[in-house]
Amino acid sequence: MNIEFADRVKRLPPYLFAEMEKLIKEKKAQGVDLISLSIGDPDFPPPPFVIASLKEEVANLKNHNYSFSQGEPDFRQAVADWYKKRFHVDLDQEEVIALLGSKEGIANIARAFVNSGDRVLVPDPSYPVYANGGTILNDGIPVSVPLLEENGFKPDFESVNPEKVKMMFLNYPNNPTSATVDKALLKLAVEFARENNIILCYDNAYSEISFDGYTAPSILEVDGAMDVAVEFHSCSKTFNMTGDRIAFATGNKQLISGLTKVKSQIDSGPPVYIQKVAAKALASYSGGEQPGFLKTTNQIYAERRDVLVNRLCSMGFKCDKPKATFYVWLNCKSNSMEFATKLLNVGVAVTPGIGFGKHGENYVRFSLTQPKERIEEACRRMSALFRVADTQ
Ligand SMILES: Cc1ncc(COP(=O)(O)O)c(C=O)c1O
Repeated sequence: MNIEFADRVKRLPPYLFAEMEKLIKEKKAQGVDLISLSIGDPDFPPPPFVIASLKEEVANLKNHNYSFSQGEPDFRQAVADWYKKRFHVDLDQEEVIALLGSKEGIANIARAFVNSGDRVLVPDPSYPVYANGGTILNDGIPVSVPLLEENGFKPDFESVNPEKVKMMFLNYPNNPTSATVDKALLKLAVEFARENNIILCYDNAYSEISFDGYTAPSILEVDGAMDVAVEFHSCSKTFNMTGDRIAFATGNKQLISGLTKVKSQIDSGPPVYIQKVAAKALASYSGGEQPGFLKTTNQIYAERRDVLVNRLCSMGFKCDKPKATFYVWLNCKSNSMEFATKLLNVGVAVTPGIGFGKHGENYVRFSLTQPKERIEEACRRMSALFRVADTQ
């Protein structure tokens, strides 16, 4: 039998990390003590109260039936309550949907609204799912919106051609650049979307990972956003629950209902017990204030960030301290794949920027998901490569 992939699958770009992954495997097979600063998966477990609640909810035999495509009403209410506390935004349950991770929601939203040949604005560099799972696999055409260092890694809406654009993805705090925004930029995004009749998909997966007093806003805080926007949040990074697959989208009722319609033909919502646990996790906020474990986690990420950025600067690189996310985006001023390979040869794995889009070239992404001592060791190994400049 001649098995052939569908055209939309053939249109997916080549997987640029394949070569890196092969090299990483080889290093591991050789017994190299590899320090992985490449994966965006927290090294912390979920907080103890989440694990306790998980045990309790799993043991409840009533929690093993199908959920609803839009999610459990109690979970959606918990999301609405959290929005009120955290962002002072009023939502009703119809404006919330439970997701099996925000990746799934990002990939499915375009299926509900993008027709074959519609253009979808995708930041470059960005989380690859916007262009691939979100656009190409739904027969849309990804159009790159450059995020340039000289613009603080923010889009220049005036230079974007809105013709035949149906949807736009935007993500702050940003992966991979770790750039943050204030409400003024979000206001520009909402105005641009409203003026041009574009659906705005705002990915706020890192809203709770922030430092130095920075608090990430929600797009739904902006006047008029409810007309055009849907916002994605996740329990993955906030509560260290990446493997539990629980997230949510909020915003315009019609957009949420379109996503629900699509999902009702694909899945039946996250497990009831996971939704119950996630509802408890969200309820751990006191007013808008983060629970203690999250403050502690963010403090640890900030310490790791300081170690890495200070050492990179003393090696001669120019690198600012990000105010959010657990990533450091380094302008390595050279081919990102070659630079990453050089680091891999001293036992440090990072992600080459080219994997996030053409404008990610000459950058690499470090993930702060290893203990401080391992990051210090990674810096020692790197400084052997850049010894001339390292003064520490
Ligand atoms: C920007 C961004 N959005 C969404 C996700 C997806 O997270 P999840 O599907 O675990 O909610 C990730 C994961 O790394 C991400 O970096």
